[in-house]
Amino acid sequence: MEAREQWRSSLGFMLAAAGSAVGLGNLWGFPYTASQGGGAAFLLLYVLVVLVVCLPVLVAEMVLGRSTESSPLIAPIKIGGRLWQPMGWIFVIASCGILAFYAVVMGWTADTFFHSLFLGLPKPEEAGAFVTSLSTGSSVFLGQLLSLVLTAVVVSAGVRGGIEKLAKWSMPLLFGLIVILSIWAATLPGAWAGYKEFLLDWNLDELFNPKTIRLAFGQAFFSLSLGIGIMVAYASYSNKKSQLPKEALVISGMDTIVGILAGMITFPIVMTFLGQGEIQKSFVQTLFISLPTGLNSLGLTGQIVAVLFFGLAFIAALTSAVSLLEVPVSSLIDRFGWNRNQAVIFSTSLIFLIGIPAALSDKILEDMDTYTKLFLQLGGFLICILMGWFSTRKYDEDLAGCNSKIRVRRYLKFMLRWVSPIAIGVGLYVSVFDLVKPAVT
Ligand code: PHE
Repeated sequence: MEAREQWRSSLGFMLAAAGSAVGLGNLWGFPYTASQGGGAAFLLLYVLVVLVVCLPVLVAEMVLGRSTESSPLIAPIKIGGRLWQPMGWIFVIASCGILAFYAVVMGWTADTFFHSLFLGLPKPEEAGAFVTSLSTGSSVFLGQLLSLVLTAVVVSAGVRGGIEKLAKWSMPLLFGLIVILSIWAATLPGAWAGYKEFLLDWNLDELFNPKTIRLAFGQAFFSLSLGIGIMVAYASYSNKKSQLPKEALVISGMDTIVGILAGMITFPIVMTFLGQGEIQKSFVQTLFISLPTGLNSLGLTGQIVAVLFFGLAFIAALTSAVSLLEVPVSSLIDRFGWNRNQAVIFSTSLIFLIGIPAALSDKILEDMDTYTKLFLQLGGFLICILMGWFSTRKYDEDLAGCNSKIRVRRYLKFMLRWVSPIAIGVGLYVSVFDLVKPAVT
């Protein structure tokens, strides 16, 4: 058998994992979700969920991959026995489901990028036609296909030659661009109003609103790419010596900072050009209509900003899509002995087909987004049980082997056993309750 590939460096691993985490979920999802969940209350809850609930799970998911050196489909069986096989399937099915609709939104992003670059931005009276051209007709399929093909090309080039290489040049570029854009957004007349709406709009009741709780949990898992086997796959290529707790902290820190910076770009733009209320209309409305139309009033500067922003979003999405595709691909290689190219072609074609309903209907796309988020939390819950209760020896050995501090390990283990599973359980319960409620009343 061929030796298992490894990341060239621990920085490469971190950048690839951060690349998975930072994506459309941060740039599109985060500001929009925050506006739906009561601004600052959502933000506070989100940060708490990330630091207290998700971080221990992130480390455990990585340990699951590293200690078994296996793909997400096989790792749960290797560490916990046959009984855990369904967990591997949940990982594979959820990643295919997410990539299926994610590629559609990537396609819209690419379309808006090319439109901004070559044709300019839509005027307010052209906004309707602009959206129709974006989200209907053959251009949607073209965008979806282009996005999947690019993703497939990177993944088929392998862990070092494809995924790590892409992350190494794109992540620094992404950070640079996002900082520049947030500085620019700070100079807009509506900047302060935007920050206020996003960061300072305190309404403590929102903290107990089931919808805010559902959004914060869903967004935290989605944004960290957690509970879906990606970190299993990525960590299975990682070095036994690298300190996973520290790396997990850096990855989640970068992800959260990018989410907040994204809000500090979009909120000022929307408040300057369109006013309150606009950001809450819908996911599609805010980012693919309001943003380009708003920026149109700035002439050339607006066009440059739009090109940078949508280009940036596409690259961020690509590094996330690549990680999603790696889950079924590494699983097929591991389970059936296929070669990488076969696995890539098969998985990509299947994902394209699953994404067709989402390409045809925004409503189906939003539903896929909402429901797959529940899978991530279920995956996260199972990781807590498997690593915190069933395979504790392997978990301890792995973390002890990389010399992480005993205090840190004790804290993580305690949280993994007692706090994260209970919190995720409550989060899942509240989320399901919130989702079925409209049907009941
Ligand atoms: N974390 C990515 C984002 O924020 C999306 C993603 C979700 C990627 C789940 C992998 C798994 O856009």
